[in-house]
Amino acid sequence: MRRLLVAALAATALTIAGTGVAAQAAPAPGGPGVGDEYYPDYGNSGYDVSHYDIRLRYTPATDRLTGTTTILATAKQDLSRLNLDFLLDVSSVRVNNRPATFTREGEHELVVTPARPVPAGGALTIVVQYAGVPSTKVGAGYTAWIRTPDGALAIGEPEIAWWWYPSNDHPSDKATFDVSVSVPDGLEAISNGVQPRPPVRETLGYTRWSWRSVKPQATYLTFLAVGQYDVTTDTSADGLPVYNAYSQLLPQDFRDAAQSSVERTAEVVEWGSTLFGPYPFEALGGVVTPPGTLGFALENQTRPTYSSAFFRRGSNTSVVVHEQAHQWFGDSVSVAEWKHIWLNEGFASYAEWLWSEKNEEGTAQEIFDYLYATYPDDAAIWTTAPADPGVAELFGDAVYDRGAMTLHQLRLAVGDEDFFAIVRTWPTVNRYGDVTTDEFIALAEKISGENLDDLFQAWLYTPSKPVVAGVSAFTS
Ligand code: ARG
Ligand code: ZN
Repeated sequence: MRRLLVAALAATALTIAGTGVAAQAAPAPGGPGVGDEYYPDYGNSGYDVSHYDIRLRYTPATDRLTGTTTILATAKQDLSRLNLDFLLDVSSVRVNNRPATFTREGEHELVVTPARPVPAGGALTIVVQYAGVPSTKVGAGYTAWIRTPDGALAIGEPEIAWWWYPSNDHPSDKATFDVSVSVPDGLEAISNGVQPRPPVRETLGYTRWSWRSVKPQATYLTFLAVGQYDVTTDTSADGLPVYNAYSQLLPQDFRDAAQSSVERTAEVVEWGSTLFGPYPFEALGGVVTPPGTLGFALENQTRPTYSSAFFRRGSNTSVVVHEQAHQWFGDSVSVAEWKHIWLNEGFASYAEWLWSEKNEEGTAQEIFDYLYATYPDDAAIWTTAPADPGVAELFGDAVYDRGAMTLHQLRLAVGDEDFFAIVRTWPTVNRYGDVTTDEFIALAEKISGENLDDLFQAWLYTPSKPVVAGVSAFTS
């Protein structure tokens, strides 16, 4: 999102067009991608979204989702046509209050032609009406939408929006969100941010739940959980609303372990704030999903979701620390392209090491030494460059563990004072923005006053095991 003086720019474009002096380029179609090297057709070019209003009705028994999404955007060029990323069945599209024509291209592209072109800088109001059974749709070779015994989960990375709302689906175009979902009475419908109004009983046995995110939010971090949840609410020491939800399908022992972990979210955020600067969002919390459904945790903005498997063997504050650290690294500070994902996962993993160190459960150095000695020499962690892992290793050990190991090497090279200055400055200067690895290296060099090229070359860009002075083999 980029809040421009839309009216002023549009007026300027009109004036220029009106003079007939500088002939404007003919309006051209926006492109089917933002130019992400790993995912060329994710997101779209030609416009910039500032807000999504997603209004849905969902019936778990049939998995039928119907809805209207209204997108507020600004044209970045003279636009004759634009793409949205979406899989469900569209019945109508309107742009700036006129019916638009639309067609499908490839797997997830919805191609929209407005009745009249939109000038660069001009405002776009796009209204898409749709319906469908999300679990029947395949994108990127799978179905990210998950049905549960009591409802559904829209949680995934990097793909999830396609199954429930049309979007410019790339973290480089963040926006604010209103999500409102009508579900059968007795179910919860949970999403990001705060509730601008309490759930409202509608007719026909449905209740509407409303959620609002007022800070820029990436499309993949916008989530929906429908089901039977027990909810706890609180206010953090900073006065922010805390909203946690636990699936009623969790066996009691899981449930106790989950609660013993997730109820510590505000404490974890307070600790994170001392290291990374003020918490960037307006609310906090967590959602623990039904057993056997979600297979991972995800840092959904303000309200991460956790697979119940994380709590099967007891409490797990480490995963809470990981997902909360992402609020700064990944959610507030987003990747400009997916190849930079170690900037999310390396930091979130290193936060776990710092939490361990603080709780005297092992220092970061001990964790580094253990990992360095334990991964076999031919493991993917060493044969993958964290700063360019490729799609297959996007969530691999190189991104998570070697990413964290890189940060530990940086800490050793520049010393604690500069290291913690870097760790705090990075999310501060890039708050709500998007970033690249080169920008991180430049900041680390600026703050430390050192040339760190060799360190980052070995740890981030070279697909072989870096040599560490004094640590060559496991010696115990
Ligand atoms: N970003 C998530 C985390 O580290 C991981 C998501 C993994 N996604 C997946 N489809 N496996 O917390
Ligand atoms: Zn992570």
